[in-house]
Amino acid sequence: MILITGGTGFIGSNLANYFVSRGHDVTVFDNLSSGRIENITPHLSLRNFNFVKGDIRDKEFINSSMKGVEEVYHLAADPSVKDSATNPEGSFRINVDGTFNVLEAARKNDVKKIVFTSSSTVYGETKVLPTPEDHPEIPISNYAASKVADEVYISSYAYTYGIKGVVLRLANIFGPPSTHGVMYDFYKKLQANPKKLEILGDGKQSKSYLYISDCIDAIALASRKQKKVYDYFNVGSTEMTTVNEVAKSMCSVLGVRPKFVYTGGKRGWTGDVVKMLLSSKKIEKLGWKKKVSMREGVKRYIEWLNKVSGKFHTL
Ligand SMILES: NC(=O)c1ccc[n+]([C@@H]2O[C@H](COP(=O)([O-])OP(=O)(O)OC[C@H]3O[C@@H](n4cnc5c(N)ncnc54)[C@H](O)[C@@H]3O)[C@@H](O)[C@H]2O)c1
Repeated sequence: MILITGGTGFIGSNLANYFVSRGHDVTVFDNLSSGRIENITPHLSLRNFNFVKGDIRDKEFINSSMKGVEEVYHLAADPSVKDSATNPEGSFRINVDGTFNVLEAARKNDVKKIVFTSSSTVYGETKVLPTPEDHPEIPISNYAASKVADEVYISSYAYTYGIKGVVLRLANIFGPPSTHGVMYDFYKKLQANPKKLEILGDGKQSKSYLYISDCIDAIALASRKQKKVYDYFNVGSTEMTTVNEVAKSMCSVLGVRPKFVYTGGKRGWTGDVVKMLLSSKKIEKLGWKKKVSMREGVKRYIEWLNKVSGKFHTL
C-alpha cells in the first residue's frame, strides 16, 4: 500500500494518477487546504483507492492512517516561499513538525520507504550553475530552510531505523492541475486584462522549469531504482528561462500582446532565488530523461487552463 500525503494537490494528484493507473493500492492523505477533491474524483469509486481527509500536524491521526502502509510519498506542505516569510511559524508547523509526525508514523508502522519532494531552493543563491547535489545547502527563505530540515531528518531516520529515504529536489514544476506559480499568475492576470501584464521583479529572474509528467517520471523512477538507504536527486531541465521569456511564450500561445509592467527589484518576492539551474546528471544516470519541451509544456498547460476556466478572451 502506498500513502501519498498532499495527494489532492498539483504534484500529489498526478502521482496518485500514476500509481492508481498501474494497479497499486493508494491512499491519499490531505487536509484539502490547497488541494482539491476534484483532482482525485475519478479514483474515489475504485477499490484500490482511498481518500483520508486529515492534517499532518495531527500526529495521532497520521499515525493511525499509516497502518499497513509500505511506502510513503510525502508531498503535503505549505509550498509558498512568500507565506514562509510572512508566517514563519505556520510554515514551520506544517513543513517541519508535520514532516516529523510523518516520519514518526512511518517508524511506528514499519514503513519501508519514504519519498520526499524537496526543492531547488535548498541551494540558495549559488553561483555554481548548473548546481550539483553535493553543493552546500544555504537557504535564503524559511521555506527552503524547512526543506533542509526535512531532508536531514529523513537521512537520520533512514540510517537509524532503516526506513529507505529518497529525496527529490525539484525545479519549478508546471502543468495541470496547478493553480499556483508564475504561469498560473500570468494566465489569471491576462484573462482579467489582456492589454497589460504585471510582472513581479524585473522579469530577468532566470530559472529551470519542468513539465509535470517529467517530474512524475523522475519521482517514480528514483523511488524504484535508487539502491542506497538514503539518497537525493535534483530534478530539473537543462535550460534556464527568464520570467520575461515565460511571459512572452504564454502571450504567443494565447495570441495576446500586452504591455509588460514591472514591480521592480531583482527578486519577485522575499526569498525568491533569482537564478536557478539544477544539474540533473545524477538522476539521468538512473535512466531519467526530460521528454516535454518548455514550449510544448506551456501549450499543454494553457490548453488545460482554457478548458477549465472558459475560453480565453483575446483582443
Ligand atoms: N510545484 C513546484 O514547482 C514544486 C517545486 C519544488 C518542490 N515542491 C514540493 O512538492 C510538494 C507538492 O507541491 P505542489 O506544487 O503540488 O503544491 P500543492 O499546494 O498543490 O500541494 C500541497 C498539498 O498538501 C496539502 N496540505 C497542505 N498542508 C497540509 C497539512 N497540514 N496536512 C495535510 N495536507 C496538507 C494541500 O491541501 C495540497 O493538496 C510540496 O512539498 C512542495 O514543497 C513543489
